[in-house]
Amino acid sequence: MPNHKTVKEYIRTIVDFPHEGIMFRDVTTLFSDPRGFRMAIDQMLHPFAGMQIDKVVGLEARGFILGGAIAHQLTVGFVPVRKKGKLPGPVISEDYTLEYGEAVVEIHDDAIEAGEKILVVDDLLATGGTAAAGIRLIERLGGEIVGTSFIVDLPDLGGREKLEKMGIEVEALCAFEGS
Ligand code: PRP
Ligand code: MG
Repeated sequence: MPNHKTVKEYIRTIVDFPHEGIMFRDVTTLFSDPRGFRMAIDQMLHPFAGMQIDKVVGLEARGFILGGAIAHQLTVGFVPVRKKGKLPGPVISEDYTLEYGEAVVEIHDDAIEAGEKILVVDDLLATGGTAAAGIRLIERLGGEIVGTSFIVDLPDLGGREKLEKMGIEVEALCAFEGS
């Protein structure tokens, strides 16, 4: 019998992780399935077919898994945006707000050249804080954002709205309402 599962159906929900009241959308069950993983990569790229993309930026941590596969598929370079203190060379930094407190992300200051067209990828869009900080880093280096591509959108948390207000194209393979 053929397997017709959608991307969304491969995602596992873990209740009360990392703390009570959170429904954690676990994409490892999508990544570990050969058909599911390939389908996700192909679908993430689909809206950008035929567009010029010079580099893929992946947001730590699950964005690295997706970004590596997408960059390979496009035969372009991959650039990581990492949490503070992880990148060895000279970096620029951006602060962003978390549910409790602040966090910092960084990019190597020579990772992107002015005018390069950049696709930003991550597993999940919630408040949009992480993606917006990544976008600010790329734009400070002169990169031009072609768009952003996520597996999951949590529309109730407002990330899509936030990014679209910045003039950024947002693509997501599925959404979970009620976050
Ligand atoms: C999760 C997720 C996104 C981000 C989305 O990562 O993988 O990167 O949160 O949230 P936001 O839209 O509200 O910024 P997390 O910060 O938990 O870290 P990890 O990917 O390194 O596990
Ligand atoms: Mg993340």
